[in-house]
Amino acid sequence: MSLTIDNTTWKDEYCLGNLDVDKEHKKIFSLAQKTLELQEEKDEEVIKNELKRIIDELGFYVATHYLIEQEFLETQQYPYVKEHTQLHKQAVKALNEFIANLGNLSIAEVQEQLCDLIEIHFLNHILYEDSKYTAWENSLDSYQKSFHWDESFEINDEAFDKRNKELFTLAQEAFQEAPCCGSRDEKIRKMVNYVYDYMKIHFREEEALMKEYNYPHLAKHLLRHRNIIKQMNRLVVQLPNSDTAYFEKQLANLLEATFIYHVMDEDQNFRKWIKEAQ
Ligand SMILES: [Fe+2]
Ligand SMILES: [Fe+2]
Ligand SMILES: [Fe+2]
Repeated sequence: MSLTIDNTTWKDEYCLGNLDVDKEHKKIFSLAQKTLELQEEKDEEVIKNELKRIIDELGFYVATHYLIEQEFLETQQYPYVKEHTQLHKQAVKALNEFIANLGNLSIAEVQEQLCDLIEIHFLNHILYEDSKYTAWENSLDSYQKSFHWDESFEINDEAFDKRNKELFTLAQEAFQEAPCCGSRDEKIRKMVNYVYDYMKIHFREEEALMKEYNYPHLAKHLLRHRNIIKQMNRLVVQLPNSDTAYFEKQLANLLEATFIYHVMDEDQNFRKWIKEAQ
């Protein structure tokens, strides 16, 4: 997907509650926005200078922000600082590799790779990884969730639409602190089982449909599905060693930030395309 107006726009729900950390996160969003806007620029000199400035700022950000954030997480006694620090190291590595390879790239390639780098290692990190701290700190009920099923998500295939609708209900249930029936463990088991069924059945159905219609973005979409499966697997392997309440929040977060977002945004592109093709 790379950079879009939507994913480069800062939302208050991304706040971690530490002024310095949040200020720097906002900075990354405005840097992402500038990188996106630069795609409209025609003057090569301006593009070159601006790219240099953005890359320098990213370098400065990784050198300062990560230390501030890690220190904040440590003082809050966040139990996953070690894993989180590892992700920061991966972002530094990706940025360094990108910088080392700059000499071999055309300006267009630099722009393209920079957009991907910012999306994957910086924006997504704030959205899906830094936000885990908020999930750990807050109670489930304190979340204000605004996602709802919308008829525009339908493709007029009953079983297909039903599964997506159920996913929304499940994600909403995931944010209810007191499970309607059974224990917290049962709730988690039910959710995890449902999500695996969803990935197995729904992803396969959707991919088959995309093939049938010769959807031009099939390869990218397949990759997205694989990444979602990976994210889910990464979460589930933590289950035996995780605190149940924390895992429950992580799962709710993943359901919204990854699964619901995917249906609302990336799948939506396909649905629009199908409707126009028909
Ligand atoms: Fe951060
Ligand atoms: Fe972080
Ligand atoms: Fe999909």
